[in-house]
Amino acid sequence: MPDSFYITTPIYYVNDRPHIGHVYTTTIADVIARYHRLRGDDVFFLTGTDEHAAKVVDAAAERGISTQDWADRNAGEFESTFQRLGMSNDDFIRTSQDRHKERVQKYVKALLKSGDVYLGDYEGWYDAGQEEYVPENKAKEQDYKSAISGRPLVRKTEKNYFFKLSAYREPLLKLLEQGESVDGCAFDVQPNARKNEIIERIRTAEDVPISRDVAGAGLGDWCITVPGDDTHAIYVWIDALFNYLTTVDTDERRHYWPANVHLIAKDILWFHAAIWPAMLLALKKQPGYDWVQLPGVLYSHSFWISEGKKMSKSEGNFIDLEKIDQYVETFSLDALRWFLATQGPMGTTDSDFAEARFIEVYNSELANTLGNCLSRVCNMTNRYFEGQLPAGGQEIDDVLLNQDSDAQAKLVTLDRVAPNTHSNTADSARLLALATYASHALSLVQQIDLYIEVTQPFKRAKDESKRDEVATILYNCAEALRIASILLWPFMPTKAEEIWRRLGCGYAEQMAANGGRGMLDEWVLWGQLKPGTPIAQGDPLFPRYQP
Ligand code: MSP
Repeated sequence: MPDSFYITTPIYYVNDRPHIGHVYTTTIADVIARYHRLRGDDVFFLTGTDEHAAKVVDAAAERGISTQDWADRNAGEFESTFQRLGMSNDDFIRTSQDRHKERVQKYVKALLKSGDVYLGDYEGWYDAGQEEYVPENKAKEQDYKSAISGRPLVRKTEKNYFFKLSAYREPLLKLLEQGESVDGCAFDVQPNARKNEIIERIRTAEDVPISRDVAGAGLGDWCITVPGDDTHAIYVWIDALFNYLTTVDTDERRHYWPANVHLIAKDILWFHAAIWPAMLLALKKQPGYDWVQLPGVLYSHSFWISEGKKMSKSEGNFIDLEKIDQYVETFSLDALRWFLATQGPMGTTDSDFAEARFIEVYNSELANTLGNCLSRVCNMTNRYFEGQLPAGGQEIDDVLLNQDSDAQAKLVTLDRVAPNTHSNTADSARLLALATYASHALSLVQQIDLYIEVTQPFKRAKDESKRDEVATILYNCAEALRIASILLWPFMPTKAEEIWRRLGCGYAEQMAANGGRGMLDEWVLWGQLKPGTPIAQGDPLFPRYQP
């Protein structure tokens, strides 16, 4: 039985169209999902849309169309964008779907019985853009303005159902501060700086509203009502968080739970790191829900800014769909994926999406390193061996023997580098360190360049007696390139598959025949290319970009 691996992205609000932030989180989730499929895991990758927000109702009203139409339009835009961008999500959940609504009501019903939910009055500072109440001390710190949009917070009073979050302070601290399990469940928040931030906030956590007054919230019937009380809508955040569970709460999919990784950004950390695990612990105590566990890791990345500034439509630096499509058109989808995944804001600092930086990364890593290496190997095979992969035969060390010691010292033989690269990338993948993973994989390609530079096959080729050595050198290069391309596949599936075609490898077909699952550990073993294989030449993989 393959290991199961469940990864999620936030579900995105449908008040507007997708932008680079949404594409980013879904892209890195896609890279991680593909890595796990490549390893042979049984992967479930979920993304989708969060629809019952007051701002969705408002956005539709402004345009004079029904909320449903507006939601359909934007959800459709998210779904088709992700498809166009090659995302391999296994489902797309919309919170307005019956399958979601029914299950959320079921969970809330169970929570109402748990004693962890009660009806009370709430007064506080509301951030309408974020659909979120802000605690007094934070509101003051932020000068009573939204930390995200900068718009003034609104004072609100409501009768609400409350979830006793305060009763979960201790369990949450045990999970996050002491790193111990609670009710047999573990839960981690990464990076550590974000975890520490959340630990401090949990210490003073108060009970939180999980419903909103339907009339007061201006939601009309655009909501999921509290079971048994139609005057209350389940608060959009509670409704939304449950998507991770509703989608897999079926007989066929329940084995995916708990999610291994929830990917989010820093803007929505509190709900995911405190309220979500506490609600799951409360639900778990209810009859029939003992299978409910806590997610493995909640990873909260930082934000993209653009050309050195916070993205904004009025600043003209907003990376919208049109801009994203332009990048794909000019550089290829895989180049965009590479840039997002290697230069993006994993960790605690924001990243700058700057065109100049994009071009620099594209030219140096993709065109000059990977693309160029593939061309060199194919060209030499073509020139010296009539386009057929020669047999390796000769020991690598023999080939290196007649090098000056300086050159030898610079070189690590490729058959020894490749297994290290595999184990280094595996370590990085475990830590979700995508940029580090990518740099390990790319360094194998750089080693091939170095190997060519040191062994100089083009010089040896002039001497007929050294034909075996040239054969060995080329075989080793092609073999290392094969392994690098497998490791790079999660980042650049189209281009990696192109390399496989040129080297005559059938991995794409094997994966398709095996339910999308690969055999990474076996495929990266040294020495699998068959001598005599025709090596196809072709257009540059990543043509150099000249502005
Ligand atoms: N609907 C809620 C999430 C509910 S999840 C149960 C929501 N939606 S959102 O449309 O505002 O999307 C927020 C998410 O989009 C962020 O957490 C992040 O994943 C992504 N990003 C939005 N802007 C971003 C950047 N500028 N940079 C990187 N990612 C960002 O919040």
